Amino acid sequence: MSTWAPYWQSRLLWEITRGSSHNAPDLALSVIDSLMNPRQYEHQPVLLAEVLDSLITDPGGLYLDATLGLGGHSEAILRAISAQSKLMGLDMDPEALLAAQSRLKSLPGQFRAVRANFRTLGRVLDAEKFFPLTGALFDLGVSSMHFDNPERGFSFMHEGPLDMRLSPDNKLTAAQIVNVWPAEQIALLIKEYGEDPSANKIARAIVARRDQKLFTTTTELAEVISDILPRGKTHAATRTFMALRIAVNAELENLTGGLEAVLPFIQQGGRIAVITFHSLEDRIVKKLFSSWETANLCRTIEIRGKAVVKPSGAELERNPRARSAKLRVVEKL
Ligand SMILES: C[S@@+](CC[C@H](N)C(=O)[O-])C[C@H]1O[C@@H](n2cnc3c(N)ncnc32)[C@H](O)[C@@H]1O
Repeated sequence: MSTWAPYWQSRLLWEITRGSSHNAPDLALSVIDSLMNPRQYEHQPVLLAEVLDSLITDPGGLYLDATLGLGGHSEAILRAISAQSKLMGLDMDPEALLAAQSRLKSLPGQFRAVRANFRTLGRVLDAEKFFPLTGALFDLGVSSMHFDNPERGFSFMHEGPLDMRLSPDNKLTAAQIVNVWPAEQIALLIKEYGEDPSANKIARAIVARRDQKLFTTTTELAEVISDILPRGKTHAATRTFMALRIAVNAELENLTGGLEAVLPFIQQGGRIAVITFHSLEDRIVKKLFSSWETANLCRTIEIRGKAVVKPSGAELERNPRARSAKLRVVEKL
């Protein structure tokens, strides 16, 4: 059983150190509960064989996992590289970081974990003198841990606070967006980040409900949306929840910032692998990689004869959550 401290423990420390200790008693109860009943999460690393094949060009090199998560890709990378080579793992979520550190603690000489937003990875790599990199991996978005823990507020399937922050340093929560933002801004967010054609209708319903009573939980929001939209193949709130998550964590800005930041630290012949999970992310990666190719900075690496690789049928059977994943890899010239 893993013994890492869960999200609420770091959240409690965060509340106390920021002076907002009025939330501390409730949080303290959550901490005690979660320490007595530690949760275990599972996250299956996506497109693992394809990542290892395309990223590890030199088993003696320096590698960066910019999205450590629960350390699934990192563990496999550490097993594939030599004892002299090193891997740095970044995550901005303290809970993920602790979980990965605990998982990978038997390999301390080779592995180090750093809590940081990958957008700031230039400063981290500089400070740690961790370059030139042989390979960098970005496995975007959130992990199963985030969806499966109701307290994180990412899932409309479980009742929890409307939070959705990957980092406790983040001031914006999903509750603040739905309870405070003007209807037009909420509609724009759902349209642009959720690509939901019913964005205006959803925004109007959100504002009508909050005028009666402010939202506090994920299920309250999910119900308001499912009440006004017809049943489809996916839950009516899927796109709104995705849009809120993207906005709360500035995911698209981070993506561009992180990829631009990593390129100067990659050695000639080194590689950058990115796994995306929705079209907004994939469009950004495709466009940026193609601009690098045009500028003769990089070339596309084909995996099994393809520039974009998706999970095989066998992987999808094992892990349906991988269904929208796409892997793109470039090599620095
Ligand atoms: C899909 S999960 C990674 C899973 C991991 N590859 C594994 O196999 O366990 C993505 C992780 O990236 C982290 N993350 C997302 N955006 C980030 C950012 N801008 N900076 C640092 N970490 C980020 C999330 O907290 C999450 O833990």
